[in-house]
Amino acid sequence: MKDILEVNNLNKSYSLNKSEEQAVLRNIDLRIPEGQFVSVMGASGSGKSTLLYTISGMDRMTSGQVRFDQEDISSLPDKTLAALRRNKMGFIFQQIHLLKNLTLLDNIVLSEYLAGRESRKAINRRARELMSEMGIAELEDRDVTQASGGQLQRVGICRALMNRPKMIFGDEPTGALNSKATSEIMALLGRINRSGTTILLVTHDVKVAARTERVLLMEDGRIVGEQHLGKYEQDRNDDAKLREEKLSSWLLQMGV
Ligand SMILES: Nc1ncnc2c1ncn2[C@@H]1O[C@H](COP(=O)(O)OP(=O)(O)O)[C@@H](O)[C@H]1O
Ligand SMILES: [Mg+2]
Repeated sequence: MKDILEVNNLNKSYSLNKSEEQAVLRNIDLRIPEGQFVSVMGASGSGKSTLLYTISGMDRMTSGQVRFDQEDISSLPDKTLAALRRNKMGFIFQQIHLLKNLTLLDNIVLSEYLAGRESRKAINRRARELMSEMGIAELEDRDVTQASGGQLQRVGICRALMNRPKMIFGDEPTGALNSKATSEIMALLGRINRSGTTILLVTHDVKVAARTERVLLMEDGRIVGEQHLGKYEQDRNDDAKLREEKLSSWLLQMGV
């Protein structure tokens, strides 16, 4: 399988003041094959979010190279980079930001309307299909205040899928959800991944990471280890508990 993401010697630092720099990402090398479901764990402040933002082109790196889908994004101008994100990437966050005066359906279609790639009719049709796949078809006319956290996260996933992204990036997407909603969201992401979309999630939650295929561990701006669990096959009654135990004992061994 070819790599959708190839990161070479990525460094990111912030200047604290004129003479002091804080290194947040240090010499990161990473390859992600197309179709993989990856999670990133690590203590708070270890650089997980910064890694996600720099490899997805939301934030600039200090040095190094990132190739996404065969294209070197390190040197792309801002506008080209923004277009690439719009065309090929999807993002989900812990808190979804929705416009209060719009229905959930309108929130999902908005950026595609603005992109103007397809007719509004086709865009609405796709949004309704996605809402139905995510089990929230009946919510299309509701507004933000009329849905639960888990339902809003499904709205976020629908919105992220509108452009048929090659890769989805998630920063703690289940961080604000209870365990039932978390498990439902992970089942949906698993399905999306099985249909071919590469996914990279930042998470604190062993239960979440245990449902991904490959777990990276960050410490102080470096990837210090990784664990390959293989794809989680929920439909084949794959043993989630066993995966969690395996991951927990590895984390313990890694000193987490
Ligand atoms: N915009 C910024 N300016 C300065 N320092 C930052 C900025 N963003 C993050 N940092 C620092 O980078 C480090 C890693 O942050 P982050 O990537 O958010 O970690 P994590 O997601 O693992 O909690 C932290 O020490 C944080 O304080
Ligand atoms: Mg973070």
